[in-house]
Amino acid sequence: MFKVAVLISGGGTNLQSVIDKVQSGYLNCKIEIVISDSEKAYGIERARQNKIDALAFSKKQYGDKLSDEILKIVEARDVDLIVTAGFLSILKGDLLKKYKNRIINIHPSLIPAFCGKGMYGLNVHRAAIEYGVKVSGCTVHFVDEGTDTGPIIIQKAVQVFSTDVAEELQKRVLEQEHVALPEAIKLISEGKIIVDLRRVIVKN
Ligand code: GRF
Repeated sequence: MFKVAVLISGGGTNLQSVIDKVQSGYLNCKIEIVISDSEKAYGIERARQNKIDALAFSKKQYGDKLSDEILKIVEARDVDLIVTAGFLSILKGDLLKKYKNRIINIHPSLIPAFCGKGMYGLNVHRAAIEYGVKVSGCTVHFVDEGTDTGPIIIQKAVQVFSTDVAEELQKRVLEQEHVALPEAIKLISEGKIIVDLRRVIVKN
């Protein structure tokens, strides 16, 4: 069974979309573990409600060692794919090397727009509205040494209306995130993704 570890920091609505898609049979995967860098993340409760193992690490306690701790866990559990979903810590070191092209992230914009340092949560949508873009959306990409810089797997676009406030755009984008992330996990779990340098090719 294809095993997935989901990393969270907050509410976990993307985690919930993956849980729902596993339970519906759309995803032939097992969520092996949920790991949070905040003990207060509601996503931990979502995991518990669905009898999924969950672990919370305090950033204060683990700091730079967080990625090493995560590596120990995912290797011990033979995790095939790591999914960062609303996860705010930066992954680094051996974890990125040993899990090259096996870590994916969901970002709430059409990368390379509105991404990188400081671009998370509502900041992303505020920047899109202030810039005056007519479309925004979400991106699922592989995680590499940079911030939001890895090869792009899936993008879904939404319209931006001149009357939008950040919260309205966030809601519209989040709906697409909940489609794009499970779709990307499905393609990867079915071996349909080829990474050719920066380009990701989906096999028919
Ligand atoms: C989402 O917009 C996601 O794109 C970003 O974090 C936000 C919260 O996600 N990375 P969730 O509701 O905790 O899954």
